[in-house]
Amino acid sequence: MGKGATLAIEVRPEEKEPIFLALARAIITEIEKGKLKPGDPLPGTRALSRNLILNRNTVDAAYHELTMQGWLTAESSRGTFVARDLPDFGRELRLVQPAVATADRKRPMLDLSDGAPDPRLVPIATLGQAFRRALSSPSFLVDRAYGDPRGSLALREALSSYLKDERGLAVGADNMLITRGSQMALFLAASALMEPGAAIAVETPGYPLAWGAFRAVDARVVGVPADEGGIDIDALELLARREKRLKAVYVTPHHQYPTTVTLGAARRLRLLELARRHRLVVIEDDYDHEFRFDGRPVLPLAARAEADVPVIYLGSLSKLLAPGLRVGYAIAQPALIRRMADRREVIDRQGDLPLEHALADLITEGAVRRHARKARRVYHARRDRFAALLRERFADVAEFSIPAGGLAVWLRLREETTVSAETWSTNAGRLGLSILPGVRFMMTPTSPPEAFRLGFARLKDDEMIKAVDLLDRSRP
Ligand SMILES: Cc1ncc(COP(=O)(O)O)c(C=O)c1O
Repeated sequence: MGKGATLAIEVRPEEKEPIFLALARAIITEIEKGKLKPGDPLPGTRALSRNLILNRNTVDAAYHELTMQGWLTAESSRGTFVARDLPDFGRELRLVQPAVATADRKRPMLDLSDGAPDPRLVPIATLGQAFRRALSSPSFLVDRAYGDPRGSLALREALSSYLKDERGLAVGADNMLITRGSQMALFLAASALMEPGAAIAVETPGYPLAWGAFRAVDARVVGVPADEGGIDIDALELLARREKRLKAVYVTPHHQYPTTVTLGAARRLRLLELARRHRLVVIEDDYDHEFRFDGRPVLPLAARAEADVPVIYLGSLSKLLAPGLRVGYAIAQPALIRRMADRREVIDRQGDLPLEHALADLITEGAVRRHARKARRVYHARRDRFAALLRERFADVAEFSIPAGGLAVWLRLREETTVSAETWSTNAGRLGLSILPGVRFMMTPTSPPEAFRLGFARLKDDEMIKAVDLLDRSRP
């Protein structure tokens, strides 16, 4: 801005606000927006007062106020300037924004990534009532200073009875640790099991957030291929023979993450037998058990394992209800649960008791089962609709198997196409559609699967049609 230039600002005093302060506020706004930069000269007080039709004393007072606050500096005989030690707000904004097309700067309009549930289906009013009842109960605010680091007894009892009925898990409250999402349980399990340098086998492609949790306790994370039948047991056997410090194996047998396949009975039996022989702990992540559309859910490994094969079974309410609630759980032998709870206690004295009480109430009273039934119906219909749309629009470049359960489709690009999933996902991002390419589920970027994990559960019909349109329009 040249010397003597005017300021195109509007001065709008708030109720009872002196005009000079309203003017000062308007100038601060210009600085924060980057329209006035550090070192820029301000118009003289006479010129500005004429321009804004204000008393010159008012402009004087505003400049004085801003100088006192450090926004402006007055340099004798040269005039008034924006302070030079302020950050350049305009530049900072530009720096944090990616230098790509405009849609990338905004949140994606539509999200086909990963497999999140639709939070619009959650029985919010019922949950709210349960919360209010929990908050007005004296049991946790008054009766006791702190609760159990394993989580509220009410929720552990309610969940263990639910899991006994729904998943054949014969467990009691002492077998259970409630965590803030299963992410915390992954970390605590690794922390309780692994010494630094010990190895843990994981599926590849797989779930990078689990690898991160294991690495955080200095475990070595070793990939074992997962194919169209789930984790490759022959490859795991070779690894177990070779790797003397292999302590555990992390698997997603119900709906493999990210490929969605279910580990078949033969591989399940071999996995448990191999774990017994090589003294491996199996960490079973069953993150979206309820959402099985074809046939009944497959019973967890933890429900079948004999006592000589330790299984840490992890569950979550993130898919069943909503990820924002942050409730997950681990099930294991009481001694191991204690070790995990001891570690939890040093970073998080206990969980969110009102939430845990409210959820216990919803489980006992049947609301969670009712919600699961309703959501399963809705997601089943969405899966079928999504599969039909994908087949209609992308049969020339891609193929997939309809997932028997889970909230995502693993869409593989046909071998004969030269299309890159990563480029496709970048294009989609520019159009405002979020999708995850295969490389995001690999340990190294070399030869990633040319595929996408596409979550369908979050989208209503019109949203799904829009998302599929965007996917089509963003083909490389
Ligand atoms: C493989 C896997 N495990 C666990 C979870 C659930 O994590 P949390 O319970 O921390 O939300 C997810 C959610 O996306 C997942 O994909």
